[in-house]
Amino acid sequence: MRTITDFCTGWRFAKTASVPAALPESWEAVTLPHTGNAVDGQDGGNDYWRGTAMYAKAFARPALEENGCAVLEFLGAAMTAKVWVNGKKLAHHEGGFSTFRVDITDVLAEENLLCVSVDNGENDRVYPQKADFTFYGGLYRGVNLITVSAAHFALLQNGTPGIHAPPKLSEDLHSAEVTVEAWVEGSARNVKFSINGKTQDAAVMDGHAQTVFRLDPVHLWDGVDDPYLYTVLAQLESGDEVSARFGCRTIRMDPGQGFFLNGRSYPLRGAARHQDRAGLGNALTRKEHQEDIEMIKEIGANTVRLAHYQHAQEFYDLCDEAGLIVWAEIPYITQHMPNGRANTLSQMCELITQCYNHPSIVCWGLSNEITASGTADEDLLENHRQLNALCHELDATRPTTMAYVFMLETDSPLIDIADVGSYNLYFGWYIGELSQNDSFFDAYHAKFPNCCFGFSEYGADANPQFQTNTPDKGDYTEQYQCVYHEHLLQCIEQRPYLWATHLWNLFDFAADGRDEGGKNGVNQKGLVTMDRKLKKDAFYLYKAAWADPVRAPFVHI
Ligand code: GCU
Repeated sequence: MRTITDFCTGWRFAKTASVPAALPESWEAVTLPHTGNAVDGQDGGNDYWRGTAMYAKAFARPALEENGCAVLEFLGAAMTAKVWVNGKKLAHHEGGFSTFRVDITDVLAEENLLCVSVDNGENDRVYPQKADFTFYGGLYRGVNLITVSAAHFALLQNGTPGIHAPPKLSEDLHSAEVTVEAWVEGSARNVKFSINGKTQDAAVMDGHAQTVFRLDPVHLWDGVDDPYLYTVLAQLESGDEVSARFGCRTIRMDPGQGFFLNGRSYPLRGAARHQDRAGLGNALTRKEHQEDIEMIKEIGANTVRLAHYQHAQEFYDLCDEAGLIVWAEIPYITQHMPNGRANTLSQMCELITQCYNHPSIVCWGLSNEITASGTADEDLLENHRQLNALCHELDATRPTTMAYVFMLETDSPLIDIADVGSYNLYFGWYIGELSQNDSFFDAYHAKFPNCCFGFSEYGADANPQFQTNTPDKGDYTEQYQCVYHEHLLQCIEQRPYLWATHLWNLFDFAADGRDEGGKNGVNQKGLVTMDRKLKKDAFYLYKAAWADPVRAPFVHI
């Protein structure tokens, strides 16, 4: 059997590093998801609180089967977490965006005290350390207590889902073979796998079991038009079971013709999204995730870049269900840190292990503008080579990608590492003229005709309070944001070889170090304000451009 108990209530919180010996009734009472930076992380001044904070929660011994296990699951603890139960330190996790789990079976008493420290302070080894967004701290997603039988599906290694179901399509896309694997702890001899009611047994060998399902005919996961999802279930005699959804699709990036889904040209046109909201910081609930997905669908995007880190599982689930193609990435960003290599590898290992069943994800982003504050030296290049190899080892079905900063030399050795690339360009906002976006891509494509690349970022800030009849670069008006995007939309439509384009950003987001355009602490390149209450004019420009002229024609005046 498996039980999952929500552990989001009854917490106490304080900005301290000391581990309490009893539940501190004097501390602030909080409910998860929670961040200590919901306010100071969004009000500018780059003075938001960074350091170690402590959460504490009391709980009774959970009922366990004979030799059963109790495991705590943390869905997001930023940025470095340490876990104590009854004063015994059980875990230290570095990486603020992935799930990790801790076996607490052996330390349980009748009454228990769980303490978790979270540290979003500066260091030279856990990414992100330098970037244009607020590094919120906290238990900003959920926590669960999982109890399982002695024989159960794996839980601990890299926060694994315990099951992997990569489909392989036939050439004619009429059928698929799905090699389903599961990992087991304890003394299980057999796993019963089932898909859509068809079951197949597989023997457990050294904690691993696998079987191949043939789906004929296969129902494709076909993007926003038909995001069909299968569910695979794995069961043990002990009663433990896990399931995963998967989608059957093929993807291809062509240097001359862009992206193909299931063998047909499918230009990826969309936007990027950060996981934060006015007044909440990054402590989002399903409600906020769903609202964001609805706006991504409303603007007519068929892809979303989930920048600059691993997002909540429920957001990838919503992308699977909506048929949105996802660029997933780790926060290896802006400034390379020689002591940070291990952290990039562990964050990528967790991202892929926890997310490889999502059909919406089509690539793994190795880094973002990593040469913005330095050069592509050998240590940086080797870090990328190791990340690239790790991605291919963990997932042979998806290419790796990278978002280059606009001043990266087009003949940099860094560009040869990832399978496909993409540029962040801000001509017509930070520097130069709008037409330089066109000439940059034309020159690059002419020089490297066999090189697959996209447009991973472009944008211009707009404060809806700023209106003008004479829009001009850098004036932060809604009108100039429209002038900018009218040009870029045309630039993109004339270059079908761009495998994906993601405007930066669909939503304004917190960058506490910023103070410009009449707002302190906010990056206003969004087409929607940070509270999601106002869609700027440029939102409707894309909505009209990307709307299906037959099924949903749209005009905005
Ligand atoms: C960069 C960076 C983003 C940042 C953006 C901007 O390209 O990747 O994280 O927010 O520029 O300056 O708005």
